[in-house]
This record gives sequence, C-alpha cells and structure tokens, in this order.
Amino acid sequence: MCGIVGYLGKNKAVPVLLAGLHALEYRGYDSAGLAVFDKENVICEKAVGTVTALEDKLVGKKEIGDGLGIAHTRWATHGGVTEINAHPHTDCSNNIYLAHNGIIENYKELREKLNEGRHQFKSETDTEVIAHLIEKIKNENENIPLEEAVRLALGRVQGTYGLVVIDKREPEKIVAARNFSPLIFGLGQDEFIIASDATPIMKFTNKVIYLNDGEIATITPAGYRIQTIEKEVIKRKPEELDWDLESAEKGTFANFMLKEINEEPEAVRNSIRGRINLEEGKAVLGGLADVKEELRNINRLHICACGSAYLAGKVGAYMLEEYAGVPVEIEFGSEMRYRKLIFEKNDVFLAISQSGETADTLASLYEAKEKEILTLGIVNAIGSTASRETDAGVYQHIGPEVAVAATKSFVSQVSILALLTLFLGRKKNMSLVMGQRIAGELQRLPALMDKILTQQDLIKELAEKYSGYDNFLYLGRKYNYPIALEGALKIKEIAYVHAEGYASGEMKHGPIALVDKKFPSIVIVPRDSVYEKNVSNMEELKARGGPVMAVATEGDKDIKQIADDVIYIPKTLEMLTPILSVVPLHLFAYYVAVKRGLNVDRPRNLAKSVTVE
Ligand code: F6R
Repeated sequence: MCGIVGYLGKNKAVPVLLAGLHALEYRGYDSAGLAVFDKENVICEKAVGTVTALEDKLVGKKEIGDGLGIAHTRWATHGGVTEINAHPHTDCSNNIYLAHNGIIENYKELREKLNEGRHQFKSETDTEVIAHLIEKIKNENENIPLEEAVRLALGRVQGTYGLVVIDKREPEKIVAARNFSPLIFGLGQDEFIIASDATPIMKFTNKVIYLNDGEIATITPAGYRIQTIEKEVIKRKPEELDWDLESAEKGTFANFMLKEINEEPEAVRNSIRGRINLEEGKAVLGGLADVKEELRNINRLHICACGSAYLAGKVGAYMLEEYAGVPVEIEFGSEMRYRKLIFEKNDVFLAISQSGETADTLASLYEAKEKEILTLGIVNAIGSTASRETDAGVYQHIGPEVAVAATKSFVSQVSILALLTLFLGRKKNMSLVMGQRIAGELQRLPALMDKILTQQDLIKELAEKYSGYDNFLYLGRKYNYPIALEGALKIKEIAYVHAEGYASGEMKHGPIALVDKKFPSIVIVPRDSVYEKNVSNMEELKARGGPVMAVATEGDKDIKQIADDVIYIPKTLEMLTPILSVVPLHLFAYYVAVKRGLNVDRPRNLAKSVTVE
C-alpha cells in the first residue's frame, strides 16, 4: 500500500525514481509525485492517476534535478485522490519534503495543535502533520540536524509509517524511518536506493539493509547510519537479495497476471524443490529443523492470514486435520488481532503471507508472540517483517508477484501446506505408504498444472461466453470449498463482477433463491469423497434454470450431461485437487476481466501488500 522510493547517488534521480515508482505501482496507483534536489532548490511534481501521468508531466524535464530525490505512489487513506493530497508533502516554508506509507492515528490532534501555532496545512492528509512537526522542531532548535528533528517528531506520532524525508537546507541527505510499514535500502556502487520493497532495488544491487520498526536511517554520500527512535546506535550489515530481475518483468506476456498464472506450475515446482524425500514419504523443511521437537508435540495450529492467503490456509486446515491429525483454527488477521486469543500448551501460530507485510496478519503475529507460543510463517518476500518476526518458517521461493491479485502465491502456499501436512503427519500417525503417496503426487502436480494451462483457449472462450453476466455463484465442498471462495474473490477483484463463494451444501439454505437463468453457477466437482453430493447440488441448480459451468475430473462424461459447460482437470489425490481446480478459475476471472476491458494488473481501489489496517 503506497510505494516509496528514494535515491542518492551519482546518476540523475528523476529517471531512477520514475522507474522505481513503476516497479512499485502495484502497491498503489491513485496518484504519484516526486521531489528532487536541483542545485539549491527542490523541484516537486505531482499528478493524479498512474505513474505515467506523472511521467507525462515531466516530458522534456527528465534532465531536471541532481542525484537526490524521493518519490511516492499513493493508495489514498486520508483525503481524496487529488494532486494536493499526493505526496511528497511539505512544511509551511517548503524546506522539508516527505513521502509516507502508513497511517498517523493522532493526526487530528497534532494538526489542531500545529494550527494553533499557525502552521498552514495544504492537504487533507494525515501525513502532512509530520512535515509541520519537523518544521516546528527545526524552528525551535537552531542547527538541529534533520535526522534528529525527524526522531523527535516521530516520538510525538502514533501510528504506522515508512517514511523518507529531505530538507532543502541539508542537500546531501535522506532520512528514512520505519514503524510497521516496510522500508529497505540497497547499497549500490556509490549510490543508495530506498524503497518499500525490493523490486526497484534489484536493478542496482543485491545488497540490502532492512530497517526494523522504530529505526531511523540517515543516508549521505559518505554512508549510512541507523539509530532507534530511542537514540540507540544500530550496526547492521547488508544482506543478499536472491530475487532475479527477470521475474519482476512481464516479458512477452500481455500483463503480469497472465504471466503469473502461467507460472503457477513453476511456483509449485520451486516451493517443493528439494523438500520431498520420496523414499521415506517425508517432507524436508530446513526452516523448521530447529523447532521440530516442539512441532512433534503440537496441540493445535492457529493459522492467521488475509485474502487469498487466508483461503490457502483454509485448504491447509482440511489437509492438516485429515492427514496429520492436527486440530486447526483459522482466522483472518483483521479478526484475530481483536479476539481474545486462548492458546493452550503446545499451541502453534502460523502466519501465511506472500508479502510478509500485511498489517493485520502482523498484528496477530505480535499478539501470539506476546503470549509466548511458537510462531511460524509461510512467506514469499525474503527479509520481510513476517519472515523476521516468526520463530521459524518456510519460504515460498516464487520470486516477486507483481499483479495485485494473488495467483502463483496461492498455489505455492497450498503446496507448502501439503508439505507441512506431510512433515507433521509423519511425526504423528501417518503411515509410510500414505506419506509416499502424498509425496509422489505432490511431485506430479506441476506437470498436471501444465496440462491445464494447455486449455487456455477453451477457458478464454468460456470466459467470453459468460462475461456478460453480472452475478456468479461459486460452489465447492470440503477441499474445494475454499477454492469456490477464491474463484469468487478473484472475479470480484479483477473483473468487478459480483460473485458469492459458498459451500455447496449451504446453497439450499439461502443463495439458491438467487438462481435463475440470469444467475450462473460455477461448481467445482472433482471425483472425490463428496462427488455425489456436489452432483445433487448441480441438479438442484439446473432444476431452477441456472446456467452451470463445472470444473470436473478428466474422463467424467456424466458431468457433461448436467452442466452447460465443463473444464476438465487431471485426477490427483483429493487433498491436492485445490491446486489444480484453482488454475482454471484464475484464468476464467482473468479472461472475463480482459473481455470487460479492465486493467487486470491494477484493479481499482486495490493495492498489493496491505500495510494499513
Ligand atoms: C487477493 C489478494 C489479497 C491478498 C491479501 C494477503 O487476490 O491478492 O487478498 O491475498 O491481501 O496478502 P499477503 O499474502 O501479502 O499477506
């Protein structure tokens, strides 16, 4: 949510900042802006709309500015989408410029006090108070360095921030600070690039420093210094990024979402690579090695996640209960953080998050840490907050996911939950034979997913056929109930089509009233333990005149007799069918959105990495 970039180095800042904003645009794209030093001055430009709108404003002006600047792409929280509300924000005297990601909770109170002190506010944002607070502190303390003024200002602020600040009077310095909103800086050859995540940094260097909550970095041509808000000096060595540049570019694909759906088999391959011992029917999860004895005695697993990651967790709950015998509770981060959490001895918490930065998931993680239970993570972004704050975990290893909608991260998370089932199950009651079956089938999955992707033309045709409907009911049972929810979520978010995801059996308790010839259903009906029940539900839909599209197992000719249209997926173990059945649903949502002429990578009102509550 909101993307921040900062640059200090030997090159002109503007092109670097614009390229960085493009790379971060998936985090927010309401408006964008930048502020760059130009000799003694700072030039600030803003535009409503995408980064391209800002770029258009700068046509012929890319040569402006020197080698230091900050930039921002916004996902509005406080104040409408206007040029004035776009970042960077300034103080009254236009000396201080800052870009912020997060929410300042006590901004109203601060603003009132600053107003009394005659500070003039230009925008409606919460962010602007920080600029005025820094100005006030600087006015009251002659010659105070920017980093100290920022430190004192942040001491008065409640809320979350990733922040970069520059001051016209200190032309060779960027101050960056973090509290619950990620900030990283890369150390290049005589240059520094600061960003909300690694994507803009990869082009320059793989050496990065992750700021922790409550830390402030001062970056100058001479190097960097980190201190805490309490003024403790922190020594931190750079870490290495292992993401490659190619995975952050869309290559020959029309957009990132299509590329990432086509990478789903590869994502599963990468997530399970080196983690299966077929002979012993076991999962080898190095990231859990240090806590394996605690896991042997696990009493209950509490899964916490948001959005698609939550739905992946829901599939995992079925797997872990059925095959590992581990009781599972699963809850949205936004709910768990406000619940009275009752943990028992040997309970374990598991956060699932692609970005590792989702605010609600992290808040629940901190709550679990407070209760001193073992915390685990399934995370993609290396070095992200969730990966650092959990006691142990499993990385997804799928490279950056750029399109706002989760696709390859979802199948990867489910495959890791299958590995976890194997890992825990074999420590409990799972037999060698069952372990080998699951392990073998997991290894076959990527090839089966490749096979589904060969049906893209058919899925596109079906999506075009159904693209005129305004409502859909997605139904699934047991392992495929979360897939019904995921299919509905995806078509809502990228195609702006209303869809309800439902457990098939619940349909007759209400939603069936909606069904008529204008209300199609998509039923996930593989040949599994609940097949007959799902078929009955399909019959009920057809009896009410509702069009039905089914996702069924290859060779199931009976389904063709009932459903209007069928997409076939290969046969696999029941617990692994979600990894296959979700692929056509991702493609279906994608092609409906394309047919409706929408920007699939950047759906309206959304942003990747939801770092605010
Ligand atoms: C849906 C989607 C979101 C994310 C959710 C969690 O397509 O992308 O629902 O799944 O915001 O994000 P992470 O996994 O980064 O915690």
